Amino acid sequence: MATMGSLIGLVNRIQRACTVLGDHGGGGEGSLWEALPSVAVVGGQSSGKSSVLESIVGRDFLPRGSGIVTRRPLVLQLHKTDGGQEYAEFLHAPRKRFTDFAAVRKEIADETDRITGKTKAISNVPIQLSIYSPHVVNLTLIDLPGLTKVAVEGQAESIVQDIENMVRSYVDKPNCIILAISPANQDIATSDAIKLARDVDPSGDRTFGVLTKLDLMDKGTNAVDVLEGRQYRLQHPWVGIVNRSQADINKNVDMLSARRKEKEYFESSPEYGHLAHKMGAEYLAKLLSQHLEAVIRAKIPSIIAMINKTIDEIEAQLDKLGRPIGGDAGAQLYTILDMCRAFDRVFKEHLDGGRPGG
Ligand code: GDP
Ligand code: NA
Ligand code: MG
Repeated sequence: MATMGSLIGLVNRIQRACTVLGDHGGGGEGSLWEALPSVAVVGGQSSGKSSVLESIVGRDFLPRGSGIVTRRPLVLQLHKTDGGQEYAEFLHAPRKRFTDFAAVRKEIADETDRITGKTKAISNVPIQLSIYSPHVVNLTLIDLPGLTKVAVEGQAESIVQDIENMVRSYVDKPNCIILAISPANQDIATSDAIKLARDVDPSGDRTFGVLTKLDLMDKGTNAVDVLEGRQYRLQHPWVGIVNRSQADINKNVDMLSARRKEKEYFESSPEYGHLAHKMGAEYLAKLLSQHLEAVIRAKIPSIIAMINKTIDEIEAQLDKLGRPIGGDAGAQLYTILDMCRAFDRVFKEHLDGGRPGG
């Protein structure tokens, strides 16, 4: 526990501990998970959510296809490393290092099916994926099923409402930062993401508006009014994105050339040229990372309070069971107790202005 890395890295570790304990936000008010700030990606189906995530990571790793592909929340933890090989790790398979990102995609699909049983049903049990790379920023993003208006063949009618309920269970939380994805080739007033964000965050304090598909707008129209905050006002600046088109994906255009193309698009655009330095997936990643770090810093006292509440609860549970207790359950409680105490110490150091790890 000597170096715990960034504040975001620290929160990631607590989040993983929570998941192991079965606490992933479903536990009602006052769970430790809920005290942790996170970024949830919301938007309608095909709005470009997966594309934005892949672009932020700089890798192809998400399952694709038509219909509802994301059927479990994916908690994606990005860890910036000093160098070396990029790799991915799943919480459900902790000793396996993935260096092949096509295998990561397959594992997400398989692990989704493992819980939902190959039906098209959804489950609120998250999949937790960590990516270690020198090319990412420290950031945690939660990918959620796309909001949809109609059930497809083989899906229960309730799916539309079930998805909305699941998405709401994340974005309702005051600690949730909302990454609201809207396609530029649709009227912003009809955007599923903005409708939901407006409902749960009317002041626009914790919503980041992302406008995808700028390249697909009708000729003669542009999104300058949206991007400059005149059409729908948020406290944070809107970010415009140009992801790979389906044709690009079919032609296997890789992520690096896609990022380069996106940069060129903005820099050479007569409409958006003056905004070019504040557009694109790389800029979005930096903006979110800085914001998440600042939000966590501001919430340290409440996170410490919640960790201490968890310590008290575990101690009470151990007392009730009578010490020493054996077996897996006991061992797990002691491990988590130790972890909470270590988190408590490190967070307090951060509070004192110390920056362990850096
Ligand atoms: P999701 O359902 O919200 O995850 O959306 P996807 O990221 O899977 O994107 C849906 C489709 O739109 C895919 O075929 C993408 O290639 C395409 N797409 C997404 N963003 C853009 C964009 O900015 N420009 C273009 N031309 N196509 C995009
Ligand atoms: Na979508
Ligand atoms: Mg998707």
